[in-house]
Amino acid sequence: MAKPDMDFYESQDPIWNPALLTIPVPGIRRMVNLAANLDDVIHLSIGQPDMSAPAHVVEAAVEALRAGQTGYTMDAGLPELLEALADYYGQRYQRALTPENILVTTGATEAIYLALTATSAPGREFIVPDPSFMLYAPLIRMNGGVVKSVPTRAENNHQLDPQDVIDAIDMNTYAIVLNSPSNPTGTIYPRETVEAIVEEAAYRGVYVISDEVYDHLVYDGREYPGVLSCCSDLDHVMVVSSFSKTFSMAGMRIGWLIASQGAIRKLRRYHMFTTTVANTPCQWAGVAALRGGRGFIDEMLAEYTRRRDRLVELVAQTPHLTGYTPEGAFYLFPSLPEGIDGENVALRLLKETRVCTIAGGTFGDSCNNALRISYSTSLDNIERAFERIIPWMEKQDF
Ligand SMILES: Cc1ncc(COP(=O)(O)O)c(C=O)c1O
Repeated sequence: MAKPDMDFYESQDPIWNPALLTIPVPGIRRMVNLAANLDDVIHLSIGQPDMSAPAHVVEAAVEALRAGQTGYTMDAGLPELLEALADYYGQRYQRALTPENILVTTGATEAIYLALTATSAPGREFIVPDPSFMLYAPLIRMNGGVVKSVPTRAENNHQLDPQDVIDAIDMNTYAIVLNSPSNPTGTIYPRETVEAIVEEAAYRGVYVISDEVYDHLVYDGREYPGVLSCCSDLDHVMVVSSFSKTFSMAGMRIGWLIASQGAIRKLRRYHMFTTTVANTPCQWAGVAALRGGRGFIDEMLAEYTRRRDRLVELVAQTPHLTGYTPEGAFYLFPSLPEGIDGENVALRLLKETRVCTIAGGTFGDSCNNALRISYSTSLDNIERAFERIIPWMEKQDF
């Protein structure tokens, strides 16, 4: 049976807007809170980089503060950051963007919030891959929209079949949410998949809302097929990203949304009524990050690649877990045998071995028998965690 998607306890206090019932108690929070009461926990649960932000980026934020950059910026964002983003995307995808195509937000989270809540309304359908990052479905449902899940399968390394997405489009479909590289699976959709979906969506008048926060966590020298490199114009796309993962700046809270000038004008007004502007000194830090070269990213990729490769080996040695080689982000989403409840396993693993993973069901209904393992932690922690997990799994008779 599908788990209830809401905390019924909250519904007993009439003060709250019933729309809040769509916001679940995040499975991640539940596990991390439980872990906080235990000693000697190794976290394979973390969703943010464990490296420090580059020194020149931190310095730029400090300098901005010292220079008195403590007021509001323009509502669309600091002009210098908008220019830097337009140049950066222009070079990356050979696509001409102007600052009017960009809105700077408080992390990708605000950009996702704006995109989904500005378009969702009762009866409108949104196609969302399952499993997916847990923000999308509640934000769609909050405004009465309907989530149409397209399950991906472990045996295909959670690749999204573009035909499944196209077949799910109907008269009530307003948008398709994509997230590549994916949280929780680390899957990257190949260019053919993104192009097929973007083309069909534009033809059918449906938006593609693409969450690309992991767009630099792409391994093995693979080319990254961002939506901006797969669409002929911006009329039906909204691309979201941020500095959080690429430059280890999650706490600095700077993200952005790229769309047609008309869409940006609309969202800009909405943004003024939600957060007004993003953090000013951290926008200066963002300018430094974009103008500062790829050195940091390359070092980070080398480190994550080492961890990923070792994690793939360790998962292959673990009884009852079936893995694959993720191509991006810093997650692996191995499966337990069919019918085994990942939530129960994650809870027992935490209590009995003090290793914290996240149950697959946190990310959708189609993968209750999976665990999300994050390798945004040291190689040493990964080794130590599997020294506990492997003997524990050997004892299970799933
Ligand atoms: C897929 C995905 N999108 C968005 C976010 C949020 O990014 P930000 O820190 O820029 O708000 C995360 C954070 O974990 C994520 O995994």
